[in-house]
Amino acid sequence: MKHILVTGGSGFIGSNFVRYWMQSHPSDRVVNLDALTYAGNPENLKNIDDSPNYRFVHGSICDADLVAKLFEEEKIDTVVNFAAESHVDRSILGPEEFIKTNVNGTFTLLEAARNGWDKDNTSCRFLHVSTDEVYGSLGANDPAFTETTPFAPNSPYSASKASSDHLVRAYFHTYGLPVLTTNCSNNYGPYQFPEKLIPLVIINALEGKLLPIYGDGKNIRDWLHVEDHCRGIDAVIQNGVVGETYSIGGCNEWTNIDIVKLVCKHLDKLMPGDSPKSDLITYVKDRLGHDRRYAINAGKMKRELGWEPRFTFEDGIEKTVQWYLGNQEWWERVRDGAYRDYYQQQYS
Ligand code: NAD
Ligand code: TYD
Repeated sequence: MKHILVTGGSGFIGSNFVRYWMQSHPSDRVVNLDALTYAGNPENLKNIDDSPNYRFVHGSICDADLVAKLFEEEKIDTVVNFAAESHVDRSILGPEEFIKTNVNGTFTLLEAARNGWDKDNTSCRFLHVSTDEVYGSLGANDPAFTETTPFAPNSPYSASKASSDHLVRAYFHTYGLPVLTTNCSNNYGPYQFPEKLIPLVIINALEGKLLPIYGDGKNIRDWLHVEDHCRGIDAVIQNGVVGETYSIGGCNEWTNIDIVKLVCKHLDKLMPGDSPKSDLITYVKDRLGHDRRYAINAGKMKRELGWEPRFTFEDGIEKTVQWYLGNQEWWERVRDGAYRDYYQQQYS
């Protein structure tokens, strides 16, 4: 039985992970430490709250005393670190929080694990959840990122994640901390905050608002369903080699404009209207320093851990669109005043 500290478990991927873990490992203890920033929403785990094996703690990963207390009180033997500021556009508008949480917060967790874990306990694991964005931008014909691609982050967000990845690596080499790092591509699925491309487009289209495409819309991302990401993290926790990094991706590259058209196609099918939703597409000013292409070679995950994505993109997108259609109350509630201010600043 594991005692897992999930940080950022009330956000998009974290809440999907907590739900996934409690279903697939029901006897484990799960402690969710989340600061409940604008992106954290306790409603994401509404039906989990009463479980005796689950505890929610409202607090920051930067709070060293709180983190140390949790390690001791809960006999934590596994950390899955999702907590982060995660949105590139916000990092461009204001990078400071990204350094605080993503760099200092990860450092605080690493210190707690170093001080709290017995070196002889071989069952402890510190899994740091990171992104493919640390590798920078690819040209059209470049090979996909692998675990050995040199870091070349281009945004304050990706630079802060790269910094945290380096700290995690250093704690393995210097102190022998049993760390694992995953670098994953763009996730999509239920409970994603509507500042990210796919939920933003679904919700804007439902409300008849314009669908903003940055630049020429030809930037490419690799997309993975969030449940496939959770299964990948599980595989790495169970069977990953300590000190190693793992690239997780969907082998599923799409230009932004094609994704938006695909979402529109599903919306037209599920909610036929007078005009196609793609009429709402509008090209807007490009993101500063916008990375052109990300692609992941997930061969190591398949070879060494037998992991592969299960969702096809068509199916995953259709289910995601259906989820947002069926959960209007959820997305209306997360779009509070603070989000409206951000939206105004970003898209005015
Ligand atoms: P998110 O923004 O939806 O959620 C982040 C969560 O962290 C929120 O619940 C927030 O309240 C919490 N948080 C923020 N600061 C905190 C702090 N100081 N202490 C404790 N909790 C704090 O993010 P997400 O999309 O779910 O991403 C989760 C992780 O996965 C991040 O580390 C991100 O870098 C990584 N990642 C995301 C993607 C993606 O496509 N979304 C892809 C690869 C990797
Ligand atoms: P996003 O969901 O913010 O993820 P990331 O920047 O981490 O890849 O954006 C995905 C892509 O969509 C990215 O190339 C930027 C683009 N994009 C738009 O064209 N319009 C938008 O309104 C948003 C939010 C993103």
